[in-house]
Amino acid sequence: MRNAAPQQLSYASAMPHRVDQQLANGHKHAFVGRSLRKTYITGETEVHALRGVDLDIHAGEVLVLLGPSGSGKSTLLNIIGGLDRPTAGELWYYDTDLTALDDAELTRFRRANIGFVFQFYNLIPSLTAEENVRLVTDISDNPMPAAEALELVGLGERRTHFPAQLSGGEQQRVAVARAIAKRPGVLLCDEPTGALDSQTGVRVLETLAQANQELGTTLILITHNAGIAAMADRVFNFLDGQIASVMENETRVPASEMAW
Ligand SMILES: Nc1ncnc2c1ncn2[C@@H]1O[C@H](COP(=O)(O)OP(=O)(O)O)[C@@H](O)[C@H]1O
Ligand SMILES: [Mg+2]
Repeated sequence: MRNAAPQQLSYASAMPHRVDQQLANGHKHAFVGRSLRKTYITGETEVHALRGVDLDIHAGEVLVLLGPSGSGKSTLLNIIGGLDRPTAGELWYYDTDLTALDDAELTRFRRANIGFVFQFYNLIPSLTAEENVRLVTDISDNPMPAAEALELVGLGERRTHFPAQLSGGEQQRVAVARAIAKRPGVLLCDEPTGALDSQTGVRVLETLAQANQELGTTLILITHNAGIAAMADRVFNFLDGQIASVMENETRVPASEMAW
């Protein structure tokens, strides 16, 4: 008896080219934001987390949000992903005005278009890797099979394992599989390698870059690690609730060459 060779899968064959279709329709910006503000009020204190942010996010780009702790990066990412709303300002996803959506519509927008990856993997400990991915694919319109998503991040053999039986990097790759399995137009990652060592983190970045390159998924990545910025098309430098500068990389360094 012989074992079958692992099946080679690629995002290109596994996913429809939704983003390309949108480009063909004349939309080249995935998101456009104008004068975005977010003020948190706790008791008698007001925190101005975003103080007037203007942004254009290109469809299919790799964008890194870089800046010190407390500068507003997560606040912006959560607003872009429809987890939160701006206090003021305009925000468009292609031709949808996100600020005009009610809560149910915003939830539908998020389910259909956004994949999230957070620093701590947020896997359910009592479910296997495959069952964790299924939590998302079961409520998605056109998902890939959970086992296929795990193949894509190199964990096909580990799908019956529970989170406690996986390393931190492997757990994060399960979280990436969960995020890409619903074939989202946008992947939002908040410090996805923040809890990982360099070598393990690079493997996670490679799976994210693969989703971007082979599908054209717009990839937005928060880090406070300037070394990771080299894999981006563009970098927004955050300071005190604003985008202080935008840097453009002429060439993108492959994720495999990142180190920190
Ligand atoms: N839910 C919240 N309630 C009150 N203040 C908040 C909340 N979320 C974030 N903040 C504040 O907003 C500012 C920006 O936070 P955040 O967007 O998390 O920054 P970063 O991700 O760059 O570290 C910080 O001063 C933070 O304490
Ligand atoms: Mg943050």
